[in-house]
Amino acid sequence: MRLTDLSIDYQDAFEKFLEALSEPVFIVDRSLLIHFMNQPALQLCALSTFPTKEHFDQMISDADVVQLVRETLQAGTLIKKRRYDKGRSGISWRITVTPLSQNTNQDVLFSILIEDMAELQRLEHAQQDFLANVSHELSTPLTAARLLAETLEDIIDTDPDKAQQFVEKIEKEVQYLTGMVSELLELSRIESGQLSMTIEPIESAQIVREAMARMLPLAQRHRVRLLTDIQQGKTMAAADSKLIMRVLVNLVHNAIKFTPSGGKIVIGTTLQKDQQRFFVQDTGIGIPAGDLPRVFERFFKTDRARSKADFIGPGGGGTGLGLAIARQVVEAHGGRIMAESIVGEGSTFTFTLPVAVLHDA
Ligand SMILES: Nc1ncnc2c1ncn2[C@@H]1O[C@H](COP(=O)(O)OP(=O)(O)OP(=O)(O)O)[C@@H](O)[C@H]1O
Ligand SMILES: [Mg+2]
Repeated sequence: MRLTDLSIDYQDAFEKFLEALSEPVFIVDRSLLIHFMNQPALQLCALSTFPTKEHFDQMISDADVVQLVRETLQAGTLIKKRRYDKGRSGISWRITVTPLSQNTNQDVLFSILIEDMAELQRLEHAQQDFLANVSHELSTPLTAARLLAETLEDIIDTDPDKAQQFVEKIEKEVQYLTGMVSELLELSRIESGQLSMTIEPIESAQIVREAMARMLPLAQRHRVRLLTDIQQGKTMAAADSKLIMRVLVNLVHNAIKFTPSGGKIVIGTTLQKDQQRFFVQDTGIGIPAGDLPRVFERFFKTDRARSKADFIGPGGGGTGLGLAIARQVVEAHGGRIMAESIVGEGSTFTFTLPVAVLHDA
């Protein structure tokens, strides 16, 4: 479709359009004299105002980029896309040079669009890592179940008691797999923005007490004390109560898993400036400093053998997805989640939520 409505000032519309782009755009002539730069292009060149009579090769110091643009300009009238990767610096650009129509001096103008591909590359790598992780995590219980089933075949007629134990073990592996698949689906729903949230004012003290009531039986079974610490009265957070309850339950579940008998867990909440802070503090085994920044990554678990062997049986193994989901949920609310820990002394997980603004009816 061509733009032919004469009542529109196309130059103005074109400039506004270029300004609306988030990628740097330059408009140059054949001599590389810059006729226009949008805001991201100014930022790229560390300029605050449009320079007069500057040339592209004076603005962009990298000779390779300039050479690339020159070659493309000479190539003629077609749109050209070139990839530019700068060694190991992590800089990766896609440069698109498009011939525009001639100006009044019969000189062809060109637009140079620079797209940053580094972020895209990083996401691609993250996706590949994720797929590799998922395949690995799925194959472990699948292999276990297959081996169990094979052994079961051998003993089913000769040793019914043992066979029953094997059936139970297979059920456990299948349960674990089902749990992991549903957590993965949940994570992808949140990430793609498909999770519907109902944000309402929720009473912070109430949600802490409810989490405590729900987790008390498990804590008692594992002989850890579970307490609450509610520092202000009736403060309200703006949140989806079901989702936040799941985050709290997950944090407390972790705390129970990684706190040996005789330990103590506190679920608390305080009002801090304009944020409601929730925390779960335990006196458990702690997390090594080097692992702390990674605990919210999908599938990340510290020392797998330890968490599996010493604490709550197979459940203690977990899938390593709980905290990744918690982070997604908290961030979808506009909050933040963080972890502090000292090995041998305990861990504290804290997250914030916006405070509910209540309007009088
Ligand atoms: N309170 C805690 N104390 C010590 N380590 C913890 C604590 N909470 C989490 N971790 C460490 O962080 C890892 C990731 O926790 P996360 O909740 O994501 O996974 P998980 O509990 O292993 O499995 P899932 O929650 O999916 O069943 C845990 O495996 C554990 O190594
Ligand atoms: Mg967990």
